Amino acid sequence: MYKIAVFVSGRGSNLKAILNSQNSLLSGVEVAAVVSNKPDCPALELARGHGITTLVVNSNKHESGRVTYFELISLFEKKGVDLIVLAGFLKKIPDEFVTAYENRVINIHPALLPSFGGRGMYGMNVHRAVFEKSVQISGATVHFVNTVYDDGIIIAQRATDVSEVESPEDVAAKVLEVEHELLPYVIKKFSEDKVVVKNNRGYILD
Ligand code: GRF
Repeated sequence: MYKIAVFVSGRGSNLKAILNSQNSLLSGVEVAAVVSNKPDCPALELARGHGITTLVVNSNKHESGRVTYFELISLFEKKGVDLIVLAGFLKKIPDEFVTAYENRVINIHPALLPSFGGRGMYGMNVHRAVFEKSVQISGATVHFVNTVYDDGIIIAQRATDVSEVESPEDVAAKVLEVEHELLPYVIKKFSEDKVVVKNNRGYILD
């Protein structure tokens, strides 16, 4: 089994898309843990409902009931976690953690990077900015996480036509549909060892 840990902070619809693919596309993938910075977020509830190990992470200070990023590294090693998937995780991951998992931490961003990315560009902020700029195409990007917000090598992007939307909420809904297809697809490719980085570019092999 290829093992992933999914990091979440909110509603968890991307986590749900992953879990819903487990009898089909992602049958060879196990969600070994779900990690959040928010102990009561719906995504964590969803994971608990599926009997998945849940963990609450707390910067680098020890607090009861929470783990530090440092502790996560050894926990993941014990569990044999292959890939870390940020699916709506709103905290910046410490550099040491990213370095320990070089090219094994990915994030889904709800726009076509490098547009509409960077600090403060998350959730509805992204879709509002897309709407206000009257952008006609938006989409989702899956990229490696490095030490700078939304800056890592792009692995896959999928576009969606937003030329006829009437609100930022409409943009969000169209992009979310694309996200729910793209993220499981990319995870599947990782599990088959078909994601490669060459000359500073990400490639997905057939
Ligand atoms: C998604 O739009 C994701 O791209 C972004 O945060 C949102 C999380 O949604 N990073 P959900 O919690 O997966 O429903």
